Amino acid sequence: MTDLKGKTALVTGSTSGIGRATAIALAARGAHVLIVGRNEQRAKDVVAEIQDGGGTATFRLATLDDLDSAQDLAEWAIQEGDGHVDILVNNAGVALLGPSESATEAEFDETFSLNVKVPFFLVATLAPAMAERGWGAIVNVSTMVASFGQPSMAMYGASRAALELLTKAWAAEYGPGGVRVNAVAPGPTRTPMNERFGDMADQIAALAPAGRQGEPEEIAAAIVFLASDGASFVHGVTIPVDGGRVAT
Ligand SMILES: NC(=O)c1ccc[n+]([C@@H]2O[C@H](COP(=O)([O-])OP(=O)(O)OC[C@H]3O[C@@H](n4cnc5c(N)ncnc54)[C@H](OP(=O)(O)O)[C@@H]3O)[C@@H](O)[C@H]2O)c1
Repeated sequence: MTDLKGKTALVTGSTSGIGRATAIALAARGAHVLIVGRNEQRAKDVVAEIQDGGGTATFRLATLDDLDSAQDLAEWAIQEGDGHVDILVNNAGVALLGPSESATEAEFDETFSLNVKVPFFLVATLAPAMAERGWGAIVNVSTMVASFGQPSMAMYGASRAALELLTKAWAAEYGPGGVRVNAVAPGPTRTPMNERFGDMADQIAALAPAGRQGEPEEIAAAIVFLASDGASFVHGVTIPVDGGRVAT
């Protein structure tokens, strides 16, 4: 299917895990994909994989942590997209886990900068032009722990809960202009991020009906659905893609 041909898709955090799988899936549907991350070799590898599959992609190395980094990325993306970015996937994120009393101010600021501030200013910079063109799709990547209390995940969950509220607010703000804004809330997913957490991810995953971790491609499938016209009447929702955890 090449229904996204002619669209430019910016996917943050697309050198690894869920973002990487999303970039590959969007490219397979015809989108020109803009890869962003910090690791050059991984960025080159994703671009090469997309090109080998007949798609088009390019990359930019960026450490996303503030207004300037978000605006620089948006400006580059507009240039790379021949003047337009049609799909934005706010996927890059950081999960610094631990008891609240152990968290530092620097960790708090890092979490909210990457998980909330950068998506906020990417949307603020890119969504108005999408609305002027009358078509846009923004997908925010949240987490299931934005919906319930989980020890050691207070800071991370709170940052994603903010992103879920922004998803609704932006749907109200930009939806009338033809820009759909939605989110996915993954459960534990087999990515390099989770490898760092050892058995904990498997133990949490075992509590859901699916009883296992998700694969990055399973999260990407929901993101691509929300980014495509298959979801043309879907605005402002967060879809749980968590093996049934929040439903049970
Ligand atoms: N894995 C899970 O179980 C799970 C569950 C729920 C939600 N999520 C969310 O899903 C998203 C993707 O997670 P993942 O598991 O796929 O993680 P991952 O494999 O560790 O990938 C993270 C990506 O984000 C990029 N990144 C991280 N910090 C960055 C920064 N400051 N500036 C620019 N890029 C940065 C990384 O780039 P480099 O590697 O090139 O530096 C990488 O491409 C995150 O928002 C995460 O919170 C994950």
